Amino acid sequence: MKGRVKMAVRKIKNDVYEVGAIDWDRTLFDEIIPLPDGTSYNSYLIKGSKKTALIDTVEPEKQNELFENLKELNVKHIDYVVSNHAEQDHSGTIPKVLQAYPMAKVVTNEKCKEFEKDLLLIDDEKFITIKDGESLSLGNKTLQFVFTPWVHWPETMSTYLVEDKIMFTCDFFGSHIASSDLFVRNEAKAIEDAKRYYAEIMMPFRFPIRNNLKKIEKYDVDFIAPSHGQVYDKPDLILNAYKEWVSEDVKNKVVIPYVSMHGSTEKIVDYFVGALMSRGVKVRPYNVITSDIGEIAMSLVDAATIVVASPTVLVGLHPTAAYVLSFINAIRPKVKFGTFIGSYGWAGQSVNQAKTLTSNLKAKMLDPILIKGYPKAEDFKSLNTLANEIVKSHESCKYVKF
Ligand code: FEO
Repeated sequence: MKGRVKMAVRKIKNDVYEVGAIDWDRTLFDEIIPLPDGTSYNSYLIKGSKKTALIDTVEPEKQNELFENLKELNVKHIDYVVSNHAEQDHSGTIPKVLQAYPMAKVVTNEKCKEFEKDLLLIDDEKFITIKDGESLSLGNKTLQFVFTPWVHWPETMSTYLVEDKIMFTCDFFGSHIASSDLFVRNEAKAIEDAKRYYAEIMMPFRFPIRNNLKKIEKYDVDFIAPSHGQVYDKPDLILNAYKEWVSEDVKNKVVIPYVSMHGSTEKIVDYFVGALMSRGVKVRPYNVITSDIGEIAMSLVDAATIVVASPTVLVGLHPTAAYVLSFINAIRPKVKFGTFIGSYGWAGQSVNQAKTLTSNLKAKMLDPILIKGYPKAEDFKSLNTLANEIVKSHESCKYVKF
C-alpha cells in the first residue's frame, strides 16, 4: 500500500473536519487526464451529538492517511458512511472503513448501492438507501440528501449539512489540486483549476448540470465542499462560474488543435492564426503532439469555433489528431462552428474522417480547406476567405459574446 501516512486534519466548523488525503504526486487520472497540480480525495467527518458520519472516503492507495486522521481525532465509532458517488476514488476505501468500524452502514441512493455492490462487493445488508430530499439525524446535526445525477455518473448526489450550511458535492464543483489550503484563497487559480476539471469531466453533462445548479441554489449554502480540491467559503464564486460554463454563451475565440509532419500544415496554421488575429478574433493553436489535452479541453469550454488541422497520413488524419478528436468528441464542447484545414500529397479522406470523429459536436460546419503540398498564394487567399467566414459567423451568432 503506497502513500504517506499522515496529513493534517482540517477543521471546517465545530465537529466538522476534512480527514481525507492529498495526492501531491499523482500526474494522471483515469489514465488519460493530466494532473499538473496533483489532486486530493476529501473525506468529511461530522460528529453529531448522537451519531457520527463520514462523507466519502479516499482512493484506496491513500487509505492510511484517512485512518491516521481518524485516529488523530480519536474516532472510535462511525455510524454512517455517506457515499455521494460510487467511483472508486471516493468509494474505494469504504470496505476498509466497514472493516475498521463494523457497526457502520453505508448511506446512499439505490443506484449508488447497486454500483457499489458490483464494484466493491459490499453486502446488501450494509446499506441504508435514501431518497431525494430525505434527512438523517446525527443528533444536533442533520444531513439532507440532494440527488444531483449525471455529475458525472448517473448516481451522483450531494449531502447538505443543515445546521452548518455546508453542501458536500463530491465531484460536482471539484478540481484536481493538491493544496495545504483547504479553503479557496487564490480565487483566479481556483477557478482555473475548476474550469479544467469541468472541461475534462463535467462538460458532456452541461444540461443535467443546469438542473442540478438550480437545485443546489435552493439551499442556504455557506460552504461548498467537494471531494476533490478546495472548499469554497464564498459559494457564489464557483456557482457563477458553472452558470457561465453551462450556458450557451461562447467567446469570439477559435481553438486550433493541429499536427504537422514536414511543415506544410504548420505553415497553414501559422498563416491562419495571423489571419484570425488581424481580424480581431482570439485564437489558440495547440500542437497536439506536445500539448496537455487538459489545456485543449479547458480552452474549448467557451470557444465559438474549432478548426482541426492535420496532414494526410495513410489517406487519413494523423493518428494523434484522430486521438485528440475522439477525446474532444467525448467531452462535447459547446462550439458553434467547426472546420478542417490541412495538407495532402495525392489523396485523402481526412475531412470525412474528422467529420465522423466529431459527430457529437452540434457545430455548423464551414467549408474545409485541403491544400496539396506546401501552401501557395492561392491557398493563402482561401485561408483569408475562411477567416472572413468565421468573423461573419461569429458576428451573426447570438451566443458569441464580444
Ligand atoms: Fe472523483 Fe467520479 O470520481
